[in-house]
Amino acid sequence: MTHATPASSADILLRDARHHSGLWQPRHAFVRGEGCYLIDADGHRYLDLMAGIAVASLGHAHPALVEAVSRQTERLIVAPQNQANDVRSDFLEALFSLAPDPLNRAFLCNSGSEANEGALKWARAVTGRSTFVAAKRGFSGRTLGVLPLTWTAAYREPFEPLAHQARFVRFGDLEELDAAIDDTVAAVMLEPVQGEGGMHPADTAYLQEAWRLTRERGALLIMDEVQSGAGRTGRFLAHEHAGIEADIATMAKGLAGGVPIGAILMTDTVAAAMPKGGHGTTFGGNPLAAAAALAVLEELRGGLLEHVERVGAYLKQRLEALASEEPRIREVRGIGLMIGIEFKEKVAPILNALEAEGVLAINAGATVLRMVPPLIFTEAQADEAVTALRAALAATSAATPEA
Ligand SMILES: Cc1ncc(COP(=O)(O)O)c(C=O)c1O
Repeated sequence: MTHATPASSADILLRDARHHSGLWQPRHAFVRGEGCYLIDADGHRYLDLMAGIAVASLGHAHPALVEAVSRQTERLIVAPQNQANDVRSDFLEALFSLAPDPLNRAFLCNSGSEANEGALKWARAVTGRSTFVAAKRGFSGRTLGVLPLTWTAAYREPFEPLAHQARFVRFGDLEELDAAIDDTVAAVMLEPVQGEGGMHPADTAYLQEAWRLTRERGALLIMDEVQSGAGRTGRFLAHEHAGIEADIATMAKGLAGGVPIGAILMTDTVAAAMPKGGHGTTFGGNPLAAAAALAVLEELRGGLLEHVERVGAYLKQRLEALASEEPRIREVRGIGLMIGIEFKEKVAPILNALEAEGVLAINAGATVLRMVPPLIFTEAQADEAVTALRAALAATSAATPEA
């Protein structure tokens, strides 16, 4: 539909509200993006530290992504995984030139939840067991098969009885992990950096012990890299920082820069356990998503990973300097461009004030401000974000009660 005069934000929001599911109350109507900026229908420009929650890895309207998607649209967008396709093969080769050993095969799907559900199914096929261990504060997705591994009670409890019951352990607690893994456990699924649960990187020792215990007890180790993967922490997969080997790693969000995709990366042994025809999905690995993902991987191979490490360290250091003079901040943590700022108070008013300064960010729980900007984020934009946060803190200094 074309409009004689461009629609205003108010008009778009009104029309949206009439027909969407009603789960959210959108406050902005974005119509365009340029790099790390989003522009709404009224022409307001925002620095985007949210990136669709760690999705727009190349920012908005990146020329390489635009070119790859446009070109592929003209060639072929439908080729299911039971037919081979040139772009998908190129993408898979690029994927495994970046992914750590022993990951060597991938099932392609369409979202993080779908990737995680599939990972559980593969783990059952390999082990013949059906118990799963997951972490408190962890977020694995919302579909019914994976909801049992999502910690937040408000997401799970309205849908009980659940399809199965997971064992939850304290993230970082070696003893609880040891006690939870017995010979009924098919897999332990962990985020190497907990995102939704508050931006908590796992200790190296914890991940190494999870690796050792799963090996010892015949269970699989699944790394949920839906948010932390595809270069977000400065490595292709965040568990590489710990020097461990996963049996399965799941990806989605930033992998194709915003075109829907999910991927279950697995070892040859894991792949071999699924009976022929034992899993499938219509759109998975379609050439359009593969072309978009290939464009992202080429950028990562062309220096973007090193860029993330550098600019992420710079942003964190600027935020730590702010924290040292701002008693309302409890802690700054994270790796690469996956950073959380934990406040001693609720973060919603600060996020609103930040928005008034022209910067969009998101929470991760009640007290953590999450920064997951596009991976092309620059040091100048990091300065812009810190200046805006300083102003937002000044604007909310008559402070909200302690959380
Ligand atoms: C670590 C993690 N796993 C799984 C998911 C679910 O992914 P999706 O929303 O694509 O289903 C998310 C989404 O936020 C996530 O952060």
